[in-house]
Amino acid sequence: MKAFSARTTFVNSVFAFALLFQNTIWAQPENVAFENQALQQIQAAVDWNDSRYLGKLLKQYLGKKVTLDELRQIAKGHNSEVLQRAIEATTGFYGTHKEMLGIKRAAFLQMALFIENSLHEFVKKNQYYLPAEQTGLEYPLEYDSQTRRTFIILPQNKQTYIGAGKNKVVLKAIFYNEKKSEVVARAVQTKVREIEMKTTSELRGTTGIMDVLACTTFKKGNEVFRTIYTKLYFPGSLSRAFSLRFRFTYYEKMKIALNILKGLSELHKRNITHRDISPQNCLIHIPLGKAGRREIVAVIADLGRADSIWKNYPLKSRVQGHSCYTPPEGIVKGRVKGVDFLKSDVYAIGCIFYQLFYEKAAPWLSNKYVINTSKSEFSRYRVLSTKIYRYTNSRKRVLARKAMRGKISTREAFEQLILRMVDPDAEKRGFATGLYTELQSIYEAHSNTNRK
Ligand SMILES: Nc1ncnc2c1ncn2[C@@H]1O[C@H](COP(=O)(O)OP(=O)(O)OP(=O)(O)O)[C@@H](O)[C@H]1O
Ligand SMILES: [Mg+2]
Repeated sequence: MKAFSARTTFVNSVFAFALLFQNTIWAQPENVAFENQALQQIQAAVDWNDSRYLGKLLKQYLGKKVTLDELRQIAKGHNSEVLQRAIEATTGFYGTHKEMLGIKRAAFLQMALFIENSLHEFVKKNQYYLPAEQTGLEYPLEYDSQTRRTFIILPQNKQTYIGAGKNKVVLKAIFYNEKKSEVVARAVQTKVREIEMKTTSELRGTTGIMDVLACTTFKKGNEVFRTIYTKLYFPGSLSRAFSLRFRFTYYEKMKIALNILKGLSELHKRNITHRDISPQNCLIHIPLGKAGRREIVAVIADLGRADSIWKNYPLKSRVQGHSCYTPPEGIVKGRVKGVDFLKSDVYAIGCIFYQLFYEKAAPWLSNKYVINTSKSEFSRYRVLSTKIYRYTNSRKRVLARKAMRGKISTREAFEQLILRMVDPDAEKRGFATGLYTELQSIYEAHSNTNRK
């Protein structure tokens, strides 16, 4: 492998000047002379093993005076593996595009060259966050020593903004890869939540939980930045998919529910309760195409409030971060403890499945039961429970009768499972793992007998 080493700017300047002088003397037609000059300067920088200078030249000339093919030839001719890799990374990411997310191909090539050639020197010194001022690149870079992944940090603008909650701002970033770099989501904590970093990092690679690429922490002056890089889901949150009116077949609805139940059961197996279940905190990826049997992926995200079920939560802390998704028993302070948290998560997910199934929000959802404290806890508990019973009981009876006669369809069995999950009586809801297994057999039976 041929690596570059740093040379003084003085040598470069003299060399560049000499080239310029040479080109002027030979009085070639203007554009040809200039093109040659660009190529010659680049060749010289490759010869001189000066990656910093080369990076600058690439940024300046690519697409204007020099094509990627010409660069490829130089890289090959000079046997420069790093330049070849940087070029491949650039073509892998851009294909035929000249610009993506406001990043010009030439600027990307310069960053790719730096990552391929110089990043390791900083990593050796445990420097994992590299501001643009330090590298001379267009954007800052961040390296995760645990996964050895490198990310290009993009500024906040219309093209990069994904969303923001109460605790994080989420922007697009680039996960650098020599073969195919990817646009990913970069969530930066705006409030310190160490436990979120720990849980998210521990659950990396768990099915049904958002696909975490890296969790990083770096200090800049007195400030500490805590960042979670995840796969970018499209359209994003389930709430976004609902409001954009994405249509799903029953096959797809079951698949989405199965994915999410899998995630919940993985959390619950570890005695972790999510405590902030809402459609905003579930992410969904819907491939292009008509509703049918698309390869949809749904996951549980935002582990900002996730913690052990055995923790002693302060009496005033909410059972669910999103008040609308609080089960009736969660209204009564101090009532939900230990394994009760698992039932409360099941209820909240049940409410989401209700919306997925019926294509409208559960009619009893309201934050007033938690927020409006002018009435007693018990009366609010009773009103909410009665309301849920009123909206679900008659349908539950119909489905139960059908099931008894063995005449229940897979779609109805799915509906029955959802109505059980939102039962005001926490004991009747079931647990995530059992519900997952049950839904899996419904889903399999459905796949065998229905096209959609
Ligand atoms: N990987 C991703 N892909 C697509 N969209 C995402 C991704 N991660 C987050 N988002 C969007 O950004 C929003 C905020 O993210 P997140 O829920 O993690 O932040 P938060 O501040 O912790 O939220 P909360 O207010 O629920 O505590 C999400 O609701 C979702 O719409
Ligand atoms: Mg959130």
